[in-house]
Amino acid sequence: MAKPYFFQILFGFLGFILFISVPAAGGGSIHELLRDHGLPAGLLPTAVSSYNLDLETGVLEAHLDRPCYAKYDGMVFFNETVRGNLSYGGLRGLVGLSQEELFLWLPVKEILVADPSSGVILFDMGVAHKQLSLSLFENPQDCSVGGEKFGKGLIRMISEGIGRKLIGFLGE
Ligand SMILES: *[C@@H]1O[C@H](CO)[C@@H](O)[C@H](O)[C@H]1NC(C)=O
Ligand SMILES: *[C@@H]1O[C@H](CO)[C@@H](O)[C@H](O)[C@H]1NC(C)=O
Repeated sequence: MAKPYFFQILFGFLGFILFISVPAAGGGSIHELLRDHGLPAGLLPTAVSSYNLDLETGVLEAHLDRPCYAKYDGMVFFNETVRGNLSYGGLRGLVGLSQEELFLWLPVKEILVADPSSGVILFDMGVAHKQLSLSLFENPQDCSVGGEKFGKGLIRMISEGIGRKLIGFLGE
């Protein structure tokens, strides 16, 4: 009687693996979608659980399991929903994606790959532009929730430090 149970457990286990790998494969297709639009797959993390692309407006909306952080050149924050107008080589009118610059989180407005052979990707934050190496974005990353504590803690530390100095300065 041991054998039937063994197979039941084995098939149950295989079923479980299939079951959990389906959302992962579904999440993978947004990375293919990015590639099909001349953008690197790693622009969005593996944490994308679903997405939809409005074929009329070109608006791509990616839903993440949770807001999270990934490190490319600097830290990038992905909100639960990342939305942008997808075109070939570009994501414009972005919402939900910020890049850390000198301890400030700047919302990224546009991401462009004008010429893939140049090997660079442009992050436009309105107040600043940044050219990054395309190779940083080759593979989707597992982003972490922990970065939040680190980033916010650091910002708090610095702003409190500056605040204290300012109070000290004004108090004199
Ligand atoms: C998205 O971009 C296309 C092409 O640049 C433009 O025609 C369209 O109006 C844009 N849609 C939105 C919602 O911004
Ligand atoms: C993330 O998105 C939510 C809902 O749209 C918004 O309320 C929140 O301010 C966003 N967080 C950041 C850090 O941009």
